Amino acid sequence: MTQHVAVVAGDLAGQEVVPEAVKVLRAAQVDYEFEDFEVGATRLLRGEPALPEDVFDQLSSASAILFGAVGDPRVPDVGYAAQVLLKLRFELDLYINLRPARLYDDRLSPLRDPSRRGCDLMIVRENTEGLYVGSGGRFKAGTQDEVAIQEDVNTYKGVTRVLEYGLGLAQERLCMVDKSNAMHISGALWQERWRALCADRPDLKTRHLYVDAAAMELVRDPTQFEVIVTGNMFGDILSDLSAALIGGMGVAPSANVNPETGRGLFEPVHGSAPNIAGKGVVNPVGSILSAGLMARHLGDVSVAERIEAAVRDAIVARECTPDLGGNLATAEVGDAIARRL
Ligand code: NAI
Ligand code: MG
Repeated sequence: MTQHVAVVAGDLAGQEVVPEAVKVLRAAQVDYEFEDFEVGATRLLRGEPALPEDVFDQLSSASAILFGAVGDPRVPDVGYAAQVLLKLRFELDLYINLRPARLYDDRLSPLRDPSRRGCDLMIVRENTEGLYVGSGGRFKAGTQDEVAIQEDVNTYKGVTRVLEYGLGLAQERLCMVDKSNAMHISGALWQERWRALCADRPDLKTRHLYVDAAAMELVRDPTQFEVIVTGNMFGDILSDLSAALIGGMGVAPSANVNPETGRGLFEPVHGSAPNIAGKGVVNPVGSILSAGLMARHLGDVSVAERIEAAVRDAIVARECTPDLGGNLATAEVGDAIARRL
């Protein structure tokens, strides 16, 4: 059956990387029909909503959404990018955010000790709750008496389903990360659900770390981790850290999925990179690997594996952008990967 893929390149770097991801999927001869949607700053600057309701409805009914990035310095409201992305994540209930970090070439690791470089881990981030729900408010805003409160929202259902997903995904080792020593209210819920659910997987080596210790351990020796399951904000932060362990923001992919409904949005971890956009140097690998995650989600496992192998071979051959030590332009990297399929 032909899958209908909604393509949302978004702003700046997103406009440069997403066409390369589509190019690579086409080279893999997938049976997908692609439809482009304009979402983001260009609409806002014309006085329209960044993500109009009718576009949202069409994105909702697609088999999958291939997304670039949103964020444009010409838009003064810094919250707008979050609103677009969070609306999609929250309203489609894409509660699992998968952020794999796999090192494809030793030279991309910043670690000194060669025996600790081989990063191959998955961060499972809760994607619909926590500090990102926008609960709270500013009281006496703009005065010296101002009180600003942003609440960390954690539900029994939300915590349970992400922990269950992590427990189902890990084959040998699962590490749960929270900050329950300091955030002892929400932390207690995470701890209680974690202990109860771990009982169902006695075969698994389960472990808990506070987020500060987890950050330190990730840098010290990432090879100790297989799957990390954590809340929305800690997952966001740790996944930029894990991206740095494999070559930087340009290579990190992500999948936002709801395992029950099958809905999914696939995007690189990076944002719109205004500091380098428009110069032809933006790395498309994060977006291309996200297209691979999308193919896997749609059931095309062998396509996903071929895309990943082509990416690895191109990186090893130094057919890559300057951030990975190559001298190719964005579209040339897309060609180099497509050629290998
Ligand atoms: P960013 O991820 O856009 O950039 C961080 C750093 O990584 C920059 O030095 C950038 O040059 C580099 N980088 C990013 N993508 C790269 C790529 N493909 N190849 C090579 N280098 C790359 O994050 P930043 O600067 O904090 O945010 C920029 C804008 O993007 C903001 O408006 C922000 O709100 C938005 N943003 C959007 C996200 C999304 O749409 N999912 C996620 C993160 C930020
Ligand atoms: Mg982030």
